[in-house]
Amino acid sequence: MATPQPADLTLEEKASLTSGSSFWLTEPIERVDVPAIMLTDGPHGLRKQEEGADHLGLSQSVPATCFPPAVALGSSWDTELAERVGAAIAREAAAHGVSVVLGPGINIKRSLLCGRNFEYVSEDPHVSGRVGAALVRGLQSEGIGSSLKHFAANNQEHDRMRVSSDVDPRPLREIYLRAFEHVVRTAQPWTVMCSYNRINGVYASEDPWLLTEVLREEWGFEGLVVSDWGAVNDRVRGLAAGLDLEMPSSGGRTDAQIVRAVRAGELDEGVLDQAAGRVLRLIDRATASQEGRAASGAGVDVDAHHALAREAAGSCVVLLQNDGDLLPLDRSASIAVIGEFARTPRFQGAGSSVINPTRLDAALDSIVATAAGDVAYAPGFSIDPAATEAEQATLAAEAVELAARSQVAVLFLGLPGPLESEGFDRTDIDLPAEQVRLVDAVRAVNPRVVVVLANGGVVALPFAADVPAILEGWLLGQAGGGAVADVLFGDVTPSGKLTETIPLRLEDSPAYLDFPGDFSHVRYGEGLFVGYRWYDARSIRVAFPFGHGLSYTTFAYGDLTAQAVEVPGEGGIEVSLDVTNTGSRRGREVVQFYVAVPESGVQRPVRELAGFAAVTLDPGETRTVTTRLERADLAYWDVRVGRWVLEPGRYVVEAGASSRDLRSRARVDLAGEEVVIALTPESSLGEALRHPSAGPVMRAALTQMLAAPGEETLSEDAEEVLRMIDSLPLNRLGVFAGGADIGPFLETILAAAEA
Ligand code: GLC
Repeated sequence: MATPQPADLTLEEKASLTSGSSFWLTEPIERVDVPAIMLTDGPHGLRKQEEGADHLGLSQSVPATCFPPAVALGSSWDTELAERVGAAIAREAAAHGVSVVLGPGINIKRSLLCGRNFEYVSEDPHVSGRVGAALVRGLQSEGIGSSLKHFAANNQEHDRMRVSSDVDPRPLREIYLRAFEHVVRTAQPWTVMCSYNRINGVYASEDPWLLTEVLREEWGFEGLVVSDWGAVNDRVRGLAAGLDLEMPSSGGRTDAQIVRAVRAGELDEGVLDQAAGRVLRLIDRATASQEGRAASGAGVDVDAHHALAREAAGSCVVLLQNDGDLLPLDRSASIAVIGEFARTPRFQGAGSSVINPTRLDAALDSIVATAAGDVAYAPGFSIDPAATEAEQATLAAEAVELAARSQVAVLFLGLPGPLESEGFDRTDIDLPAEQVRLVDAVRAVNPRVVVVLANGGVVALPFAADVPAILEGWLLGQAGGGAVADVLFGDVTPSGKLTETIPLRLEDSPAYLDFPGDFSHVRYGEGLFVGYRWYDARSIRVAFPFGHGLSYTTFAYGDLTAQAVEVPGEGGIEVSLDVTNTGSRRGREVVQFYVAVPESGVQRPVRELAGFAAVTLDPGETRTVTTRLERADLAYWDVRVGRWVLEPGRYVVEAGASSRDLRSRARVDLAGEEVVIALTPESSLGEALRHPSAGPVMRAALTQMLAAPGEETLSEDAEEVLRMIDSLPLNRLGVFAGGADIGPFLETILAAAEA
């Protein structure tokens, strides 16, 4: 039977489609053979509940592969890998009859304190967009829908269902919407999930500017907008704004509101038809791919997915430092493995993304399985909040004694699960005090210390100068224990790079004075200057910069060339350079390309990531890395004309191994586009002088008025005067001309501007 259209349905049936029939299911309409389909979490694995239903991961879900959460996957900077992970999650979703996986989450990490940073990719929109698009492509390549979330400016958990993110137009566009725009334009997610919060006072779930004008009319989004669970504030207003599907079910309450509104003429039935049509189309896409799958009989290879999870985790680990090349470890060394997280992995975050893993690797077991020498274990600390000081001291003493009689001590530290979660934010970035004390105590008896971190949000590293090696593992998913062992012993050469700055202190961070806001308003006072944009603008020292990550080999960068690609509305800068593996191991390097516009006419960060490219090289091998920095990543949002503008002028491109390890530089001039603003009597004298057609007329008139007799140009003094009155509005020129009537002169200038 052909898929029914809204016209085939009654008003009540159409209204019922725009709200779920349960916590996870859409509304079926048996009369016309419309089935229900299931939407469920995501994002780094399948969370399908069979008993109970909640959006906080409280009730159990079916076993599924827990891949590295976004904080780690993003650190791989590997879009091909992210695509494969997305496809694997989709296969598991399909095997369980799920049609849409609620992910990826690509909100920007504005504050280090956000409890949900483990579920997001970066402080930077470029890398967030690339990894997000790859996950969407991966999921949808298997006929499973994605749900790009949380749209938009959902950057904290405190008061998340009401807080208004008060953010200026440029940071909103250039930082908080930019990654969403990239994913929608390049990967067309089947659905977008609107967020709980308000944006400049308007709920995302009922904001026509956000859900229709920007998302659909500007970006060309063709799919369906679904609410975050419980995000609907006013269903009728939401429907009119472009929110197609309310989840979870309202039990028919809001369906009735919609029917009443249409009947009362308060809601155009065409709006309802449009939303119901989008729901029908989503169901159609889902059932079509289910039928296709039934035919193929594709199942899930759980072992292969675990292996992929281990490969992925190994690519996510970031080697922060490795003084004296302590790593990789000698397999025959006597190793003290210390820390509860070696035995009890911290592998994912808490809340709606909690996956019930098919299996779970503990690093301790993997180290024992890989090492050839003695391996001994001591917990070193307790993660039980009820543990006493005395108990912590006993555990520490035992660990110190073990470290003293071992050749190397590997400390597994991190944030205990209850310290960070969906639903609340942290108040500091400190590791538990007993862990920091343990580092000092261990290194006092054995300087050969490797610290391995398990944390979803950034933590301060007060011991960074005191230990030779630090691995930032973030949260690595179910196979993280095995992956850490692979990296520790060199079976995997680390290639992860930070997608979030690790500052020396929380006080140095961009949002420190504007977080989490008061009385349901949070001011994004740092504007454009989020993450490295902030630290670079203020030349603030950091512990480890955005983009940083070492390898067990080294890389040399050749000279960078940059070529303008001028195509109206597209184009960009073609960049190319040679990269050489100058070490003794095969390794992967992520070359980052940052762009600066030193003479910009508008406020801009010192440099911004505009592209990256990875290359894997054998020792001694050289490869040419080439990529294009797209116009979309070079432009700024011009609030005067309400669109992206590629500024004409000199662009400086820097190729770096991190945002502060810039190895090679090139300059290129872009024609871009001159933004011509219509002159008005309020325009300034300077704007008139710089106007392409009125400028020469203005200058001639001023020269005639101000030049010395017989002179054809203005003296330096006269030029100085013009600089001093640059901002003088044209309609007040008369005040400084003895009250002369400047009307005719003004008309001449304004007419010239129209020419
Ligand atoms: C949660 C989350 C969202 C999740 C949804 C369903 O509150 O904000 O990311 O997909 O509800 O669990």
